Amino acid sequence: MDLQKDIIIAIDGHASCGKSTLAKKVANKLQYSYIDTGAMYRAATLYALDNGFVKNGELNKQELVNNLDKINIDFRFDSELNKSLTFLNGKNVEEEIRTMRVSDFASPVATVGEVRRKLVALQQIMGENKRITMDGRDIGTVVFPNADIKIFLTATAQKRATRRYKELIEKGQDVKFEDILENVQTRDRIDSTREVDPLKQAEDAILIDNSNLNVEETYAVVMAIIIERFGEGLF
Ligand code: DC
Repeated sequence: MDLQKDIIIAIDGHASCGKSTLAKKVANKLQYSYIDTGAMYRAATLYALDNGFVKNGELNKQELVNNLDKINIDFRFDSELNKSLTFLNGKNVEEEIRTMRVSDFASPVATVGEVRRKLVALQQIMGENKRITMDGRDIGTVVFPNADIKIFLTATAQKRATRRYKELIEKGQDVKFEDILENVQTRDRIDSTREVDPLKQAEDAILIDNSNLNVEETYAVVMAIIIERFGEGLF
């Protein structure tokens, strides 16, 4: 059994299947950092929307690329909320990046190669000292191809949309189930078919379909995998 203590855990998968919740729980247990890379693409999307790079529903990729240097994204831990918040150019955008307005344009922004190069480089720096769980679409394939544990999470689109719908309604957002389902399906399609770093399962990733598992059960499956590989030495 490997007694190595500092590892990288990569969690990839389809939109809204609980990657962030899972990655956060695992990070808490191991006392690791947790990075939500989707939040970084969402923050870049918010910048594009707020600066008029989306007109008539079309993203002007060139304008976004020309302004990439002006986009600064970082995470700051809020000890009162006990969670990490996403900051865009010094402003807390944690809530705003979760709205449908941003969700609708996040995938097109994430197809832009220059955006990906910038964010992937940042993510690699964040993981330099290991002891990190990172979730996204290309963590096990591009950001950390040598990650110690790779999980590929999925569930049916119907299940994922239902969960997301409940979450947004609980937050008080005025949303329709059909719109959420369409957003989830469209994002899957764009994420999986884009030319640069498409969403795909790494060859050495473990596939988990959590259509019929709740948060705790999914977490238990992943912790069992981690303990089987690395033993209790990680705790
Ligand atoms: O995980 P999420 O739904 O918050 O991600 C938002 C968008 O960002 C999603 O449509 C795909 C994209 N994304 C990506 O292309 N690569 C990542 N590593 C993370 C997210």
